[in-house]
Amino acid sequence: MHSTFFRFCLIILCIQPSLISSAQTFISDMDQMKWEKVAPGVWKTTIGQMDLNPLDYSASPKMQALTNLGDPAFPFNTEATLSQKTKERVVVRLPLEEKEKIYGLGLEFESINRRSNVYTLKVDHYGGVKGYTHAPVPFYISSEGYGVLINSAKRVKIHVGVGNRKDSHLPPYVDRTTGGSAWQARPTSDAVEASIQGEGLEVYVFSGASPLEVVQRYNLFCGGGVLPPKWGLGFWHRMHTQSSDEDVLQEIRDFEENNFPLSVIGLEPGWQSFAYPCSFDWDSTRFPDPKGFLNRMTEKDIKINLWENPYVAPSSTMYDPIKPYTGSHTVWLGEVPDYTIPEAREVLLSHHQKNHIELGVSGYKFDEVDGYDQWLWPDHATFPSGYDAVEIRQLYGTIIQNTFTEHFRKQNQRTYGLVRSSYVGASNQSFVIYSDYYGHKGYVTALVNSSLAGILWTPEIRSANSSEEWVRRFQTVCFSPLMMLNAWSSGLKPWSFPEVTDIVRENIELRIKLMPYLYTEFHAYEREGIPPFRAMVLERGFESATKKVGGKLDDVKNPYAEQALLEVTDQYMMGPSILVAPVFTGETDRKVVLPAGNWYDFYTGDLVGNGETITIQPTLDKIPLFVKDGALIPMLTTLDVEDANQTLEVRYYGSKPGSFQLYNDDGNTFDYESGEFTITDLAVSVKKNKLQGTQKVSNNLGYGYKQVEWVWMSR
Ligand code: GAL
Repeated sequence: MHSTFFRFCLIILCIQPSLISSAQTFISDMDQMKWEKVAPGVWKTTIGQMDLNPLDYSASPKMQALTNLGDPAFPFNTEATLSQKTKERVVVRLPLEEKEKIYGLGLEFESINRRSNVYTLKVDHYGGVKGYTHAPVPFYISSEGYGVLINSAKRVKIHVGVGNRKDSHLPPYVDRTTGGSAWQARPTSDAVEASIQGEGLEVYVFSGASPLEVVQRYNLFCGGGVLPPKWGLGFWHRMHTQSSDEDVLQEIRDFEENNFPLSVIGLEPGWQSFAYPCSFDWDSTRFPDPKGFLNRMTEKDIKINLWENPYVAPSSTMYDPIKPYTGSHTVWLGEVPDYTIPEAREVLLSHHQKNHIELGVSGYKFDEVDGYDQWLWPDHATFPSGYDAVEIRQLYGTIIQNTFTEHFRKQNQRTYGLVRSSYVGASNQSFVIYSDYYGHKGYVTALVNSSLAGILWTPEIRSANSSEEWVRRFQTVCFSPLMMLNAWSSGLKPWSFPEVTDIVRENIELRIKLMPYLYTEFHAYEREGIPPFRAMVLERGFESATKKVGGKLDDVKNPYAEQALLEVTDQYMMGPSILVAPVFTGETDRKVVLPAGNWYDFYTGDLVGNGETITIQPTLDKIPLFVKDGALIPMLTTLDVEDANQTLEVRYYGSKPGSFQLYNDDGNTFDYESGEFTITDLAVSVKKNKLQGTQKVSNNLGYGYKQVEWVWMSR
């Protein structure tokens, strides 16, 4: 009834000349935006003058890849894109139709649908106000195939389809009958309205034939995705915070004895002589010989990742050189460097290069770059660059990521690390976000949302109340961008719940064996901007059967009889062919929404459904995985990810012809950018109901697998 009424309004507008002219001026006191095309399918407008520009800390656009994506038209009526500058604010207003679904706006843990809500996008520890998250990216995606980035280092406040102007173009239907069923607590508005407190901002519009194409364009505009080193996709174990060099060696021996793979050891605060604030110097009692320690790690082929927060302790050897570049306030009584100043970044890099990277450290975990207000500096703090403290806080994590990503790149060495805050333009940074928050379901929702915001997220495992929870959390982290046990406080090991040790090991091994598939998908992220782990709403043929529930009047809990939205936030895609449906503690069955087309059980190859919602009864040992018809899944047959001489197992599912362009390279450097990689074309043809697999290595640089074993899963 609602939409019929809208159509009715439109007809009236079309036939009454006086109404047409008033409608065409749109909003009387707002200016029409002027759009400049900055790349195929990407437009920009600038309103006023910006201070810090977040995009200055991202890589430059991948123009060739953007061109390859095509050149679609501007997605909506430019007359309806409006801006306004008031004494205090810059305001933008963009059209929104009733049928549109809106996604994005960063790393939310609770939902994916952004309509009918208001978000204050502030880098913060998670919680409290809507939009306070580790990565509150002001980029949204419409189900209608376009995206909008409100580019500002200020906190963007955004009203998504709520808040009605009196002079709006398509006013909502007003039901004035007593108890009318079309009454809405939040009357639908025909716009997204956003504002910042400041002098200026930029707005970018990204077109696309589908939401995935929109995400690709946004990522490519920010320099494309990241291709991690192969070791980054292996198993990470973070040591207890007080661990010493001897403890690390013992831990590695224990991993060997328990037969668990290990790629990276993370050292938590105790590696430093002082943390909170940090010295960035090795603790001489726990790590008396850093060089010797790192040499031993290299011999064992284990990478070392160092935890730190950015606040500088008076006892640090970096204190004197950084002091001239620090702000008015302290954090944990440590100095807060102003890393918008190039000289400050130089001090940071030279200290880290000399004391860590040169000795063999492979990356960092940058903690506390988000933080609650009661820990960090106030909005009125001052910094030597003169930039606003609010903007510096919003960009702190991004600037650090960019500084180190670039630094490692200059040395032709890939890094992969962790960071607790991110923002606009971060897809090309070699970092993954994590949180102190620990809801398993929320972690999966964050994984879904990360793909809509140009960031990577890890649902790290830290502890569990039962062996069931241990397994379920482990399974989720094995199917994420960074597979990590963060034992900084618990001191737990993968084998800490002996009754499920074999299950945990098998899940880790499965993830490692999927490396050829996963690495290829990260390459697609880097080159084409396609997120390797992604929301179902980015999948063609996925009908998210979102439905409204509740709405019962209750004078305490629901005095406005509001309805809540049921949405699919607990399943996602890994690459183009594998649907991951994690199970949560206590669940004996779960629903899985299958997009259109035949889907098969990953483990058995059996057909499970087509464009429908199925209910499964998962066993504890396996995370439910479903594979598309015609999919080829290349897998290792050993745990040695470097060895291209091993037999490659290629699993084939379903009955449709299919192909997979397998990517491989040296796994460590940026030489792939100058053509140092191998593509193996894998294909399955179906003739007279007979399946035939072929493989062709296109350039023999030594990264192609020589022996392929075909496994016909659905026969
Ligand atoms: C927290 C961080 C944890 C751990 C801890 C060490 O802020 O989120 O992952 O690193 O610090 O003190």
